[in-house]
Amino acid sequence: MSTSKILDLPIRPRRLRRTPGLRAMVQETALQLDDLILPLFVVEGEGEPEPIESMPDVFRLPIPQLIEKCRELFELGLRGVALFPKVPSQKKDDEGSEALNSNALVLNAARALKVAIPELILVGDLALDPYTTHGHDGVLDLSGNVDNDATVAILAEMGVLAANAGIDIVAPSDMMDGRIAEIRRNLDESGHAQTAIMAYSAKFASAYYGPFREAVGSERPENNSSIDKRTYQLSPANFREAQHELLLDEREGADFLMVKPAEPYLDVIRYARDNVNLPIVAYQVSGEYARIWAAAERGWLDLEACMMESLTSIKRSGADLILTYFAERILRDRHLDGTSSGAESS
Ligand code: PBG
Repeated sequence: MSTSKILDLPIRPRRLRRTPGLRAMVQETALQLDDLILPLFVVEGEGEPEPIESMPDVFRLPIPQLIEKCRELFELGLRGVALFPKVPSQKKDDEGSEALNSNALVLNAARALKVAIPELILVGDLALDPYTTHGHDGVLDLSGNVDNDATVAILAEMGVLAANAGIDIVAPSDMMDGRIAEIRRNLDESGHAQTAIMAYSAKFASAYYGPFREAVGSERPENNSSIDKRTYQLSPANFREAQHELLLDEREGADFLMVKPAEPYLDVIRYARDNVNLPIVAYQVSGEYARIWAAAERGWLDLEACMMESLTSIKRSGADLILTYFAERILRDRHLDGTSSGAESS
């Protein structure tokens, strides 16, 4: 029994947290189904979905299963998917030439999805890393450095191939300088003025991409050390440089700006939301997904609660859209029922 005396305290914020009804009334941020884009991995052939060890519940899907999954999730309210191919190693070379094959796996997947589910929004990643033997996002010059301008020329061609295949939004994830303007110009000149560009603008050289690289098979084959992308991706220490990249991509004509990874970079998301009038996208990357899962499998964290808390935090920091591997779980378990229409965030 507490015997302390009642404080003379007119301001008591806890008043509004007393009941579920009050708490719902004052909720400032609500994740919506419309905010979510599901990244999906595509593999050749007609076999079974392939599990990815470091990403529980995520599979590489052959095109028939990809279509099946997209159909189900579209019915549940999914708006868009982002497609990533796992290219067989015999199709990789130093130039990543398979990226310019108009019958490349990811383009065939896009064409099939456009026919099967015309309203599903397709985001097509533009980068060379699934196609190069060395795993870099570009071609190398004679001294082994990633050659910016030569890579941009390839990306601009990839953009047109993606648009031809029915991709609605091309998403360059390479971090080459000047690629947004060139991709835009090439799209416009080839009659694709309506194809949008989602720029991976503030993409950091992060250790959280490891599981993704396993998923698309872009790890270095000869050793297990991760590929060093620090000559093109941002240093995790550099906030001003991230601002510079965001503003450059806006000026070059991007339609969406992305920050990636998401939760370790909420300050960058907040900056983007407050300083740019384009939709801001956050990519909750493979390692962010894996760390929540790994702790949950040990019984150390609650999977569902951490999933919702991480996504709500990303939304609260200013993201309008979130690419997340959790999107399927959220749709299937109806985590957002009743909030997908009407409930607006702050
Ligand atoms: C590469 C690319 C990466 C991711 C998306 N596109 C990895 C990288 O830059 O090495 C990572 C996504 C994830 O970790 O979920 N173009």
